[in-house]
Amino acid sequence: MPSLSDRVKNMPASAIRKLYGFAEVAKNKGIKVYHINIGQPDIKTPEILIDAVKKHSTEIISYTPSQGSNSYLKKLSNFYKKHFFDVNVEDIIVTVGGSEAILFSIMAIADPGDDILVPEPYYTNYNGFSYMAGVNIIPIPTYLEKGFKLPKISELKKYITSKTKGILFSNPGNPTGTVYSLKEISDLCRFCKLNNLFIISDEAYCEITQQDKIISLLNVKGLDEDINENLIVVDSVSKRYSLCGARIGRVVSKNKQVIKEILKFAQARLCAPYYGQVLAEATIKIPKKYLVELAKEYQKRIDVCCEELEKIPNIKFHHSEGAFYIIVKLPIKSAENFAKFLLNDFYDINPKTNEKETIMVAPAQGFYKTKNRGIDEIRIACVLKQNIMRRTIEILKKALEKYNESL
Ligand SMILES: Cc1ncc(COP(=O)(O)O)c(C=O)c1O
Repeated sequence: MPSLSDRVKNMPASAIRKLYGFAEVAKNKGIKVYHINIGQPDIKTPEILIDAVKKHSTEIISYTPSQGSNSYLKKLSNFYKKHFFDVNVEDIIVTVGGSEAILFSIMAIADPGDDILVPEPYYTNYNGFSYMAGVNIIPIPTYLEKGFKLPKISELKKYITSKTKGILFSNPGNPTGTVYSLKEISDLCRFCKLNNLFIISDEAYCEITQQDKIISLLNVKGLDEDINENLIVVDSVSKRYSLCGARIGRVVSKNKQVIKEILKFAQARLCAPYYGQVLAEATIKIPKKYLVELAKEYQKRIDVCCEELEKIPNIKFHHSEGAFYIIVKLPIKSAENFAKFLLNDFYDINPKTNEKETIMVAPAQGFYKTKNRGIDEIRIACVLKQNIMRRTIEILKKALEKYNESL
């Protein structure tokens, strides 16, 4: 066989998905595996969205404009304006999920060999995107004990070199569940303006927090108008509306050059999915109340998990304020070995159903770049119903006891 490129061979595998083979083996042995390793919500896609696809009639599943379908772009812009954000159609590019929006944004602001700063731990696929773009991630360490908050702005200066092009973060944070405040974001914006850096704010979980904590980069006001040149928002319909498979996201920026240049990447892949855009367009009709209830449901799931985690000795975790993830520091040496143990060597009999059950978790090392960070941590995704989340943490507790006995 002809040899493959070093590029593809060196591409990092997704830290969240790499233990799937073990989960399959466990399932084949008749063990029920609860997937709390991945952010796939179990909440049903709103019927109004499914209906929009059913009712949509077309004779040709055509390409749409590369920027996005005209009707979706108009509705998005009106939606933003209704919420007092000055976003026009020409400030948006519809993308293939938030994933493509992040990749395009990184590729637009940085050349191969350039650096971007990313608060660590961070969404593990940022590694894949930056790798594909040839861009280096420079991690800014944040700590569980400090709620994964950003370091003081004065401390950020030391990470900047002539190669630094911008900062990328998700707010609310995956995997931390930390929500930055308007003041923190505004201070960061000032810092980036001063140092001529772009800010890419990944807002895939924007509304999944308490109402008074919802912050978008678009909220940043009271700064010089020209700060807009530095700001890039990437967003997605995946998590809010249980539309992960629709593959629709967006880049929003008031920097006309950013949009003009990113459009060329968008043209190369022709367009975002046609039916995905039909679904995304229909989300505009969904009342705000839906997202308020959704955020409450996720917060309850987080609270239930934290309540159960409190019962496990010698662990540490930060009670998440947003998104639906919790990082847990365990009293073990290797979270990866423990995650394999959960799938290979452990099950717990559910007293109600008599079924053998275990959990799949994401070892957290893949969310860190700094060597040896996260090796004793896991990430839990609170994406299952409250009673199931409670059960998963009970399984975690029993598995930890058994694991430590077996060493
Ligand atoms: C922080 C963050 N950003 C972006 C994405 C990508 O979302 P999608 O490509 O489904 O829109 C995810 C998915 O889990 C995420 O957690």
